Amino acid sequence: MKLLVTGGAGFIGSNFVHYILKTYPDYEVINLDALTYAGNLENLKELEGNPRHRFVKGDICDADLVDKLAKEVDIIVHFAAESHVDRSILDSAAFVRTNVIGTHTLLEAAKKAGNLRFHHVSTDEVFGSLGPQDAPFSEVTPYDPRSPYSASKAGSDHLVRAYFHTHNLPVTISNCSNNYGPYHFPEKLIPLVITNLMEGKKIPVYGDGLQVRDWLHVEDHCRAIDTIIHKGTIGETYCVGGNGEKTNIEIVKTILGLLCRDESWIEYVEDRKGHDKRYAINFDKIKNELGFEPQITFEQGIEKTVAWFQANESWWKNIKSGDYEKYYQKQYKK
Ligand code: NAD
Ligand code: TYD
Repeated sequence: MKLLVTGGAGFIGSNFVHYILKTYPDYEVINLDALTYAGNLENLKELEGNPRHRFVKGDICDADLVDKLAKEVDIIVHFAAESHVDRSILDSAAFVRTNVIGTHTLLEAAKKAGNLRFHHVSTDEVFGSLGPQDAPFSEVTPYDPRSPYSASKAGSDHLVRAYFHTHNLPVTISNCSNNYGPYHFPEKLIPLVITNLMEGKKIPVYGDGLQVRDWLHVEDHCRAIDTIIHKGTIGETYCVGGNGEKTNIEIVKTILGLLCRDESWIEYVEDRKGHDKRYAINFDKIKNELGFEPQITFEQGIEKTVAWFQANESWWKNIKSGDYEKYYQKQYKK
């Protein structure tokens, strides 16, 4: 199989590219990534010289480019997105452009290439926010996005489904909960907490810290997508979760414990605007129909993740100091 992976220099996309090339020795990947602030070629360093991986620096909104690449592959697995809620609160233009227009450009390319298989990677945030007693999100939960990020992802999900119903495009969609693991960009909660503590900085906890997220190790997310692209039913959506509901303050305290620090490192700061209170996922459908279940518990995964950040200090220090931009500009100067 030859895959066009979009956003494969980002957090989940790069984990997926590594996972696919390791799992399937005869598969090939074209990796299309614009290398925004979140894209980092250091995530792909191990693949330098690998003939089964071709990196293309480019924008998913560039119709000529994606039309050309779509003709070369059997499936598009679409990760590329603007992904950080806080950035979408400050300025949402790039979110609408990449997440909505970029997805539309790819869908058109898939249609023109001859009904090319298309897997769309989405988020549980499209379903909105749960109260403490509400049942977890599932495939039948009505959409209710509440941040510019989740609204733009919801728009992209609707377009993907519309191309299935209108044009018979062979699509699948996954809506996954919060991921964590290697190559996680250190503006998100878990890598921010780990790296701040390693740098001797305090941890900013928004509001009361009692918001709940369901955390899934990125390797399990990659396995779920693998399962869907090989065994999923065309036109279907699959919710993916980790059975790992935790409050933010629980996450922070777990990491403080692993790094032998006390709670004086916590700094409660102003709350995020429109902060979603709780996300939780019922993943019975993918479990019962496709046999997928997460394999990494939160306790195992968070320990492994802290160890990864300890062993890869130069990776995140380059990002925090801005050096990673110099690295990729040098490598892929036009
Ligand atoms: P990320 O921000 O780490 O990576 C995004 C990648 O997309 C970057 O490499 C960036 O350079 C690239 N990109 C951005 N705009 C582009 C454009 N116009 N053209 C080409 N490439 C572009 O994001 P992530 O956390 O790896 O998330 C990947 C996908 O998974 C997103 O679609 C996100 O909505 C979804 N998702 C993320 C999570 C999570 O917890 N991180 C959970 C569920 C779903
Ligand atoms: P984040 O990692 O940005 O993911 P998302 O908003 O997509 O769920 O944030 C996870 C949770 O952690 C969210 O409730 C916001 C909170 N948070 C903090 O309390 N402090 C921080 O510095 C960050 C980045 C997030």
